[in-house]
Amino acid sequence: MQNNWKLFDDRFKNRRDTNAPGWSSEESYQKHEAELERILDSGYVPKKGRMLELGSGAGNNCIFMAKQGWEVYGVDISPAAIAWAKERAEKEGGAAVFRAGDVAELKEEKDDFFDFVYDGGVSYYICGDRRKQFFASISRVLKYGGFCFVAGQHGDEKPEIPVKNGDFSYDPPSRTFSRGGAPWVCYPLSRNIVNEIEGAGLEVISFRRKKDEHPSDPFSAGGEFSVDCIKPNK
Ligand SMILES: C[S@@+](CC[C@H](N)C(=O)[O-])C[C@H]1O[C@@H](n2cnc3c(N)ncnc32)[C@H](O)[C@@H]1O
Repeated sequence: MQNNWKLFDDRFKNRRDTNAPGWSSEESYQKHEAELERILDSGYVPKKGRMLELGSGAGNNCIFMAKQGWEVYGVDISPAAIAWAKERAEKEGGAAVFRAGDVAELKEEKDDFFDFVYDGGVSYYICGDRRKQFFASISRVLKYGGFCFVAGQHGDEKPEIPVKNGDFSYDPPSRTFSRGGAPWVCYPLSRNIVNEIEGAGLEVISFRRKKDEHPSDPFSAGGEFSVDCIKPNK
């Protein structure tokens, strides 16, 4: 089942009303920029090319890449985020195209089109069987030899017991937390993430994980992971 776009939309409206820089803090955008600079220096992407950000929010990361001369595309489920990103791109310049849509489907993105697909922090919200569809869509839209970065939270240390707390409930088989009856976030096992990425025809170059700092608390964030992968040449 698809996650509830309205929860994201409400947060973007609130963030905008309170003059926040976007979904996240300035500090978080500095981390994104450091990650993007690492990738630009890695040799896995061309100096300039076509990038797709998955879960592009208010456009912060896309606009950073547009300023580096990249042709940039952003997809996000929240219409409020897309409206914010479009206004910002118009003011700040750079080739950036934003549209509202579901990143698990990427219905409007062309096959073999992008040099680089960047997960802007959305994979964590794609739960259950939809994650396989998500990786298959990434694989489809990447050029052969194209690069993809995925980041999220694993639940390697979390117990597999059902829990319920007010509006929140946890389903162990899919490792999904639902909020108000719709999937909200999930903490998959690292090995399943790697299997799903490889199952979609992508090659994992490196997988990094941090330990979960609150392993026994099912409602706290899991441990962070990030993956570099490529779509192998034919
Ligand atoms: C953690 S935020 C990051 C936003 C942005 N990348 C940034 O750094 O500010 C995750 C984003 O994923 C979007 N999102 C959640 N589920 C989605 C889905 N199924 N399809 C597209 N976007 C989704 C949310 O609206 C939100 O903008």
